[in-house]
Amino acid sequence: MPKEIQTVGVVGLGAMGSGIAQLCMEAGIETVGREVSLELGEKALDRIAHFLTRKVQKDQLDQAGRDAAVGRLRLTDDLADLADCDLVIEAIVEELEPKRELLRELERICRPDTVLATNTSALSVTEIASATSSPERVVGMHFFNPAPLMPLLEIVRAELSSDTAVDAAFELGERIGKHPIRCHDTPGFVVNRVLIPLLNDCVRVLDEARVSVEDLDAGMIHGAGWPMGPCALLDLVGIDVHVHAAEAIWDKLREPRMAAPPRLVAMANAGLLGRKSGRGFYRYD
Ligand code: 3HC
Repeated sequence: MPKEIQTVGVVGLGAMGSGIAQLCMEAGIETVGREVSLELGEKALDRIAHFLTRKVQKDQLDQAGRDAAVGRLRLTDDLADLADCDLVIEAIVEELEPKRELLRELERICRPDTVLATNTSALSVTEIASATSSPERVVGMHFFNPAPLMPLLEIVRAELSSDTAVDAAFELGERIGKHPIRCHDTPGFVVNRVLIPLLNDCVRVLDEARVSVEDLDAGMIHGAGWPMGPCALLDLVGIDVHVHAAEAIWDKLREPRMAAPPRLVAMANAGLLGRKSGRGFYRYD
């Protein structure tokens, strides 16, 4: 494994990937961001630059630091440009086959000592790793949304992950300012194993108790100390992302509480995806 992570690759610069790239850039790490097109990559860079500018305006970062951070991101649409990365984090679509295919490709492109990490939230890291012939270098690095703001990082040990790969991911997590915790590869890992059925329960309560969305959110904020209500959180995470993760965990555990409530499935099917689509439980103009 590389002695020190100097260059990190991030594959997929959506909400999670761009947040992860931002963290690396701010921590002084050379970052290669890969999107399917340069146009999508530029959009992600604009988003990152916007958040960094806000930090300057709020005196959390100086202008030179912001400019240096922005300069640390190299965009590409070619996976081959990740060849020199010490660690690559994938944050592409949350589906098993595309992730397995990507890791197979990264194994071919990257050095044998490059750590390959997946940001999957509910799929099995072991199943993703088994697509490669070097599963010992594959680990889970599960960030929480919004990645730059949420301190937690789950470092997930798959069945065949080596200590060196797990330690490298853990150390990188600390360097980029996260609070990493270690766990094994089980459905939902630690937080989603608890949070997903809890959010499902919240949505069921909406219908059972005939409470309004606003009042349910107020209830959990003022009665349980949550930083935001469950409906606002589902809108932030993405209704489709939550339904997908719930289905993946339900598929593995077969516990009824894991299954997404029909109301959420209907919202996902109708395109009411939360903040990213402009409408979920709330409207976002
Ligand atoms: N980078 C840097 N700054 C960012 C940012 C980013 N990517 N995204 C937002 N910000 C900034 C905004 O610019 C904003 O500042 P501004 O308004 O001055 O421009 C600031 O962060 C936050 O603004 P808010 O008023 O929304 O901040 P809050 O103090 O209300 O905190 C929160 C927001 C941290 C999201 C807080 O509400 C919270 O902790 N919510 C819970 C989130 C949570 O539980 N996430 C986990 C979801 S589960 C998950 O991710 C698992 C996955 O597998 C599905």
